[in-house]
Amino acid sequence: MPVARCMTVAAALLLAAVAARAADPQAGKAIAQAKCAQCHDAEDWEGEDAALLEGIMRDIVAGKVRHRTPMKLTPTEIANIAAYWGAASAPKRR
Ligand code: HEC
Repeated sequence: MPVARCMTVAAALLLAAVAARAADPQAGKAIAQAKCAQCHDAEDWEGEDAALLEGIMRDIVAGKVRHRTPMKLTPTEIANIAAYWGAASAPKRR
């Protein structure tokens, strides 16, 4: 493999690792327990993909999907909750 190509692959892998670490399931758990647990259990989302949950939550916050209560979350909080709820059912990768 040419060196330049090899560097590109290495950079892509590094970026993926950084992105995966950006979402913090522990922080998500804290927010979900504080704001969502009165109506949702993590098990409610069994089998749901974190990216899909993240998309739905973004749409709820943006007012595109109706939700029982108005939802105010930052993109980081959304990503963290999605990481937590998604991880409750996702196969363990690490
Ligand atoms: C007062 C109760 C209540 C609270 C608090 C609450 N939810 Fe919900 N949520 C509901 C109900 C009711 C539904 C619709 C029924 C269902 O899909 O289970 C729902 C649905 C959802 C859905 C699925 C929407 C869809 O169309 O598929 C998501 C995602 C969601 N809630 C996220 C959250 C998050 C994140 C929080 C915390 C920030 C939260 N909810 C807090 C009651 C609540």
